[in-house]
This record gives sequence, C-alpha cells and structure tokens, in this order.
Amino acid sequence: MKHIIIESLYKIYQGTVETVALENFNEEIDKGEVVAVAGPSGSGKTSLLSCIGGVLKPTSGRILIAGIDITKLSDDELVEYRRDQVGLIYQDFNLINEFSIYENVALPMLIAKKSKSEIDARVNELLKTLDIQRYTKTFPNYLSGGEQQRVAIAVALANDPDIILADEPTGNLDLVSRENVIDLLISKCKNLNKSLVIATHDPFIMERIDRVIDLPKLIR
Ligand SMILES: Nc1ncnc2c1ncn2[C@@H]1O[C@H](COP(=O)(O)OP(=O)(O)O)[C@@H](O)[C@H]1O
Ligand SMILES: [Mg+2]
Repeated sequence: MKHIIIESLYKIYQGTVETVALENFNEEIDKGEVVAVAGPSGSGKTSLLSCIGGVLKPTSGRILIAGIDITKLSDDELVEYRRDQVGLIYQDFNLINEFSIYENVALPMLIAKKSKSEIDARVNELLKTLDIQRYTKTFPNYLSGGEQQRVAIAVALANDPDIILADEPTGNLDLVSRENVIDLLISKCKNLNKSLVIATHDPFIMERIDRVIDLPKLIR
C-alpha cells in the first residue's frame, strides 16, 4: 500500500468570494519517496501540505496515511497525528526566538512526554548530524538563515515522524546555504526512509528529487 493516498481532494475557502485552492486532486506517494509539489503562486501548494499535515481540514475528499483516513480523525487524534507522524518545515524557519536551539529541538519531544535522558540524547544527536552542535545554547536570532533552517530540520525530525513536509524551505536562503540545507534535508530523509514532500519552484531542488507533482493554477 502507498504511504500517502490522496483521493478527490477539494479545498474551498469561503469568504466574501469563494476560492477553490484544490479541485479534485488525486495523488499517491510511496514511503521514502522525495517529491516536489510545483505550481505558480496561488496554485494550492500550501493548502495541500497543510491538509496532508493535518493542520487544515479539506472541504471534501480523503487523505489516507498508512491506510488511515486523517480527514475522519477527532481533534485529539489529529493532535497526536501531527505530533507523532508529521514534521513541518517553513520558509521563515518558525523557530521560537525566546528558546535556545537546544530548547527548540527538545520542545516536540517534551510535548510527546519523552524522558529527559532520551530527549537529551536525541537533541545532541540531531544537532551533531546537522552540524549545528556548537549552537546548543545560542538563540535563533544569532544564527544565519541556513543555520536556522538546519535547526528547523532538527525540530521536524525530533519525534521521528514518517512524513516531512517542507513549504518553500529555500525561499529565504542565499545560494550557498540553499544547497547545503537541501542536500542535508534530502539525504537525511533518504537515509531515514521518510516520505518528503517539498512545495517549491527552486530549480536546485528539482534536480535532486525523485518526482514532481504539478499543481496547475485553476482557471476560474
Ligand atoms: N485562509 C485563506 N482564506 C482564503 N483564501 C485562501 C486562504 N489560504 C489560501 N487561500 C487562497 O487559496 C489559493 C491557494 O493558496 P495557497 O495554498 O497558499 O497556494 P500556494 O502555496 O501555491 O501559493 C490562493 O488563491 C489563495 O489566495
Ligand atoms: Mg504557499
């Protein structure tokens, strides 16, 4: 069975005007696959990632994760799903500036009620493999964009989720850190057999992924 199966997915935003962000979207993603979701601005990339991540309820359709339809989960079950099975990475890093790098990476594990010794071992291991160990006690604002995004990768991997969703992860990075961050993100996900979905139009990312899913801009 495919790891992620999306069937007849619709996301329609209701406001003064109705916006169709996703219209009858269907897709299947294998465990361990690295895919890019491409499409012009407004084509629904963020909406799609948010639906897969359990952050946004689709208007209709099904999203099966390892055979379980997450659109049918209760609020409590969705909290668990997001905490244990999904890691999110954003364009603007989304770190907590009042927390040290150590605390940022520890936080998802604290929420998951892991033991102090387990958290300590895992934070140190993650910071080491992402080559940011020297920043353990530093705060996010003192790091470069590329370093902050490496911390964000560590946060996303903290609870060892099967799915990593990255929304334009290189959007705020310069050329050099862009390559470094993407090489690390993709190699980590490949080694750990994570399913990685990246919303992007970055040609550098396009060269390194398994497959592209194109979201055409809907004509309204
Ligand atoms: N919270 C929202 N309320 C109303 N419309 C939205 C909302 N979020 C996104 N949209 C609209 O849905 C469409 C798809 O947006 P989005 O998923 O952010 O696309 P992308 O990430 O590809 O730029 C756009 O037309 C956008 O304006
Ligand atoms: Mg977007």
